[in-house]
Amino acid sequence: MPVLDTFGRPLRTLRISVTDRCNLRCHYCMPREEYTWLPREDLLSFEEIVTLADLTASLGVDRVRLTGGEPLLRRDLPRLVSLLAHRPWIADLALTTNGVQLAGAAGELRAAGLGRITVSLDTLRPDRFRRLARIDALQQVLDGIEAARRAGFTGLKLDTVISRGDNDDELVDLLEYARDVGAELRFIEYMDVGGAVAWRPDAVVSRDEMLARLADHYGPIEPVPAAGSSAPAERFRLPDGQTFGIVASTTRPFCAACDRARLTADGVLLLCLYAQHGTDLRRPLRAGASHDTLRRLIEAVWQGRADRGAEERLRLRDRGVYIPVAALKKDAHLEMHTRGG
Ligand code: 5AD
Ligand code: SF4
Repeated sequence: MPVLDTFGRPLRTLRISVTDRCNLRCHYCMPREEYTWLPREDLLSFEEIVTLADLTASLGVDRVRLTGGEPLLRRDLPRLVSLLAHRPWIADLALTTNGVQLAGAAGELRAAGLGRITVSLDTLRPDRFRRLARIDALQQVLDGIEAARRAGFTGLKLDTVISRGDNDDELVDLLEYARDVGAELRFIEYMDVGGAVAWRPDAVVSRDEMLARLADHYGPIEPVPAAGSSAPAERFRLPDGQTFGIVASTTRPFCAACDRARLTADGVLLLCLYAQHGTDLRRPLRAGASHDTLRRLIEAVWQGRADRGAEERLRLRDRGVYIPVAALKKDAHLEMHTRGG
């Protein structure tokens, strides 16, 4: 029976960042020139990750998503996938990737027991990709999506962060592409998370605006009733039956249903994307704390959880950049690429 936080929210989903490094520089996540990486010796080993995942499972976790930075940069990732896929408690094992190295990895990941893949894809135009992610890698990403399909991944998802003037003219093109490759696309509102130092309110294209523009093009769009209550994406159906999602974290936060904890690559447990502090599990783990002690620590932390960062941000009148560059430079844990989207 899952542990509940101060708002009665269960702990069910663990997002594990396996590396803070990334081979892209998406404008909404890593717009700066210089980054300080987590010290290598601080990175949890796969065995340490599995130990901590098991402990969260004893408190209610049965869904795991591997993230980064870019998770495929972590050497030997299929071995971690295999370790996790064999846990008796795991109901859902997923991966979020930018897709750049997916073509070479999809088969192995599938064989290792990975259940689902989400690929981030913000544009279908090579020149634009180069401008928004600062690397010329669109074709690699598209090849990766194709390879995932060929490897047998069903339920493929594509995540698109929409920002005004950058890619908001590609709503329809991206949906057509998703239909062609048999994936479900999810439009994500641009969020003012740590690391998004170029964020500004008028760059956000709201869920309502996206729906209005899509309805202009396609005709009436119907909501699809939610299956599970904690999924962040609201789902919709186009007149021809194609479904897609919108993650309206900025204009309609879903904090009330948030059942996610995040584990950074160096073992800090975070209770919210907007959390300014986390709980270091690496130190006690490496100091030899018993599993029971660690379990009780995680339990107490979750029971004390009162985070609803996105809702708090929404209530602000003057909403600007959340974490200034100077603070990000001092603590890499505040960066989105360290906490894994
Ligand atoms: N706003 C919205 N989503 C973001 N991500 C990273 N930064 C942001 C941001 N500022 C998420 C996106 C991306 C994933 C890797 O992280 O979903 O696809
Ligand atoms: Fe882009 Fe993800 Fe890398 Fe951030 S971590 S730069 S969102 S690919």
